[in-house]
Amino acid sequence: YETLTEKARTNFIKIDGVFLPEDYKQIADAVENFEVRDDDVWVCSFQKSGTTWTQEMVWGICHELNFETAKAPINERFPFLEFSGVITTARVAMRDNNTSVPSWVLNSVEFCDNLPSPRYIKCHLPFNLLPRQIRTGEKKPKIVYVSRNPKDVCISFYHHSKLLEGYCGNFEEFCELFLGDHVFYAPYWNHVNGYWDRSNMENLLLLRFEDMKMDLSSVIRRTAKFLGKNLSNDEVKLLADHLSFAKMKNNTSVNKKTTIEYINNMKVFGEQKSEGEFIRNGGVGQWKEAMSERMVNRFDEWIAKYSKH
Ligand code: A3P
Repeated sequence: YETLTEKARTNFIKIDGVFLPEDYKQIADAVENFEVRDDDVWVCSFQKSGTTWTQEMVWGICHELNFETAKAPINERFPFLEFSGVITTARVAMRDNNTSVPSWVLNSVEFCDNLPSPRYIKCHLPFNLLPRQIRTGEKKPKIVYVSRNPKDVCISFYHHSKLLEGYCGNFEEFCELFLGDHVFYAPYWNHVNGYWDRSNMENLLLLRFEDMKMDLSSVIRRTAKFLGKNLSNDEVKLLADHLSFAKMKNNTSVNKKTTIEYINNMKVFGEQKSEGEFIRNGGVGQWKEAMSERMVNRFDEWIAKYSKH
């Protein structure tokens, strides 16, 4: 993995076995000691598992489908707790103390800390790195965890890394990094199993991307029930329409178009252009087209060895 630092444009460290950019150290204590509130709603996931989709669903359910409230950028209304410690643009801004950058980027933990209740928080940390008050059960926010077939996650993650992290390796190399637990937040199975092992925690709802694809309405109903909300059939239909792939792709509050423009205008990755879209393909089983037979076999062995649920 010697080339990783160069290809991913950062140094990495391991904290409690989790692979993270080195700059995460600067916020690790603040995350550990973060003051959680019982009326928080958290959306947690391994990156590229359908986080944004789930956030938008949770937001709609909790705001009586008032889509006006959903027009603000998603990172402002549903901030990403550890943003400043992991995302390249934020880490660069943080290092340069670039105060013209919004505080949900520059100091995401403090931003979350200052939000009025009820808060909506996104987080990609595995259970073992969540704030202490959640791990110990001292605070019981509602947590919605979404997971996705790891082969599709890997493909989506590869495109994401090129688009938003300046990754300059090829797909085969990325697969090796993924299987070798050398991508942000890896190991993948520590992540998924860490939440699924706790399926009996009453404040945790486990969702799958594939179920959302297959029957979004019933996932909306399950999630609404978990969040203590009642939606009529018409409301479920309306929300499912708002959450459709085509609508999300054109929704500037969630599609990260401005971030992509910022990366290109500021040349965050030098001459490497950020090309493509964040809401990209959204398919189930993309690996059938995108992965070589050899790689599919490698993944299958890896899945058979570590998957528990
Ligand atoms: P692809 O890259 O496979 O297209 P995350 O929000 O966790 O980063 O996940 C992003 C993935 O969710 C992307 O997958 C994106 O296209 C997909 N996604 C987002 N909104 C979606 C929707 N409404 N329907 C289907 N997939 C969606």
